[in-house]
Amino acid sequence: MKRSGKVTVIGSGFYGSTTALRLAEYDIFETVVLTDIVEGKPEGLALDMNQSRSIEGFETKVIGATTTAEGGGYEATANSDVVVITAGLPRKPGMSRMDLIGVNAGIVRGVAENIAKHSPNAVIIVVSNPLDEMTALTQIATQFPYNRVMGQAGMLDTARFTHFVAEKLAVEVGSVKTLTLGSHGDTMVPVPSRCTVNGQPLTNFLSEADIAELVDRTRNGGAEVVALLKTGSAYYAPSAAAARMAKAVIEDSGAVMPVCAWVDGEYGISGVYLGVEAEIGRNGIRKVVEGNLTASELEALKVAAEAVRAKQSDVKDL
Ligand code: LAC
Repeated sequence: MKRSGKVTVIGSGFYGSTTALRLAEYDIFETVVLTDIVEGKPEGLALDMNQSRSIEGFETKVIGATTTAEGGGYEATANSDVVVITAGLPRKPGMSRMDLIGVNAGIVRGVAENIAKHSPNAVIIVVSNPLDEMTALTQIATQFPYNRVMGQAGMLDTARFTHFVAEKLAVEVGSVKTLTLGSHGDTMVPVPSRCTVNGQPLTNFLSEADIAELVDRTRNGGAEVVALLKTGSAYYAPSAAAARMAKAVIEDSGAVMPVCAWVDGEYGISGVYLGVEAEIGRNGIRKVVEGNLTASELEALKVAAEAVRAKQSDVKDL
């Protein structure tokens, strides 16, 4: 089996370490680099993951590297093909993702500048919250072309929606297709008109009230997990989403996924990072894929775009 490329995961919390392990277990990369500012943590996790290789049957090597805010340790990440940024604080119960904007902006900006210096050709996948704003900030801080900076949110929100529909109908998750667009926050736009069960419209199976309830639960999907965990936020489903995006990049797969991407005229919206469907390849976003939406879904997407646009314009000064 041919392995190629280097992927770096910034941040060794649960989200970062789980993402690194998933990427290593795919066994498609030459190297997975995991970093953190907590001395020894990434090295320890990397050693542990490497020791699982003979059991799980993968050859990808995991390298742990302690980094500093000043850029120390980033040599280990040099010339990465893909970088996943998980750095920053997670929510505590009762917090919105937006409550993290001040503290995480400083962290993400520093990380982004160091990545730009050491991996000038990388595709960056941002997962730090608030997601849409941190994605915009990463593009500003790196000055990378828009296609090489994207955020993970739609894959996760869609997966949550799919899970809720499958549970409600007691069907296999594989028979359910759902879609969410917009922001990874209050203006998330679940798109019931694009949801199907065994290829049939969701409305054939669920009442409007039931769909509205699942839409609401999806919109609050992250907070529901945070409230249960009490410390930290979700990471199994989020890391699955981020890892699949990184895989699509390195394989140049052309997979169409809901992601946070720069929108430039699609849906009549321009100049903002927003959750949309996009085709993913070796250079990041190949193109935004504009699907059919109902009038009210399109209106909700436009509302989301204006909400995130306002916040994204604040972010450049943070
Ligand atoms: C969530 C966080 C990771 O939605 O944004 O769980």
